[in-house]
Amino acid sequence: MSEATKILVTGGAGYIGSHLVVALAEQGFDPVILDDFSNSRPQIRDRLQRILGRELQVVAGDVNDRHTLHALFAGSDFAAVAHLAGRKAVAESARQPLSYYRANVGGTLALCEAMAEFGVRHLLFSSSATVYGESAAMPLREDAPLRATNPYGRSKLMVEQMLADLAVAQRPADKLWRIAALRYFNPVGAHPSGEIGEDPLGEPENLAPYIAQVAVGRRQRLRVFGNQYPTADGTGVRDYIHVMDLVEGHVAALRYLLSEGGAGYFVWNLGTGCGASVLEVIAAFERASGRPVPYVIDAPRPGDVASCWADPRRAQRDLGWRARRTLDEMMRDVWRWQAAHPGGLGS
Ligand code: UFG
Repeated sequence: MSEATKILVTGGAGYIGSHLVVALAEQGFDPVILDDFSNSRPQIRDRLQRILGRELQVVAGDVNDRHTLHALFAGSDFAAVAHLAGRKAVAESARQPLSYYRANVGGTLALCEAMAEFGVRHLLFSSSATVYGESAAMPLREDAPLRATNPYGRSKLMVEQMLADLAVAQRPADKLWRIAALRYFNPVGAHPSGEIGEDPLGEPENLAPYIAQVAVGRRQRLRVFGNQYPTADGTGVRDYIHVMDLVEGHVAALRYLLSEGGAGYFVWNLGTGCGASVLEVIAAFERASGRPVPYVIDAPRPGDVASCWADPRRAQRDLGWRARRTLDEMMRDVWRWQAAHPGGLGS
């Protein structure tokens, strides 16, 4: 049977995780999902199996549960772990800091302890551009000052620091840790099949799923958070990256970790290097869908920065990877997914 390299994907039922599972399987790896389904749906398994045309191993469990981890690592020989499980809502993190630190910091700690016990020492960590905080200089390079401004961002930063410590703390008898922190910019879009996509539970926090839900009539209108920023049209500018480009960046990083020798801690921005404003995103979506997106201008959202985009050259140089898909392709794929499944994965 299959001798493909097994990769554990925590959070593999979520938006980015499910797309990563497809990319891994398509590139010859054997992904195994661990997910607690707190912000994802069990139907994802059927959808993924339909895309891949084969069975997938999906384990329902919490990355903070040592018994679950023990059983998983004892039962499978994983070459690496892609750790995407975590909580990600900025505003909620300010209301529930302990649950964020438990899930994001505690979860990574429990995972690394289990990995150490079972001799698995290749790790991709899902980090975020949010660790840069408010930095004046754009584009953001990996060596820009780090200064998160909310508990969610601080939890990502703490984990990065923990992993950097781990990578240099080698005992001679240890196998060497090789760890990559991948700093995501703004992932949008969906798999071109339209079978999977972003499917937030409740009211979307993020721009693209909100726009898509307005277009299918699930929400009345978009609120544009601020139009007086020092940007070309006054609305916030972000580095939107197609989720398929993003997950292909993960596969490139994984190959890098697995192929080279020696201990290492690596940080790569995964972005396009180009910014788009909220109004540009709306216009691109309207072109892709042929539907109007009614919106009103509202007050700026607390904690938002005017502009944020990546310098992606380090990943290009080290990994030979670059984002290729355009904003129009991102919006076309958001629309294909949302139009086929107006109610999300449940529909
Ligand atoms: N926006 C709106 N209306 C909405 C939602 C968003 O106008 O209903 C605007 C925001 O003000 C911002 C842009 O659309 O200008 C993008 O907002 P998102 O919420 O989609 O994304 P953010 O850049 O705010 O957040 C993302 C991640 C977070 C991460 C943050 C900082 O979703 O996890 O980047 O890196 F913390």
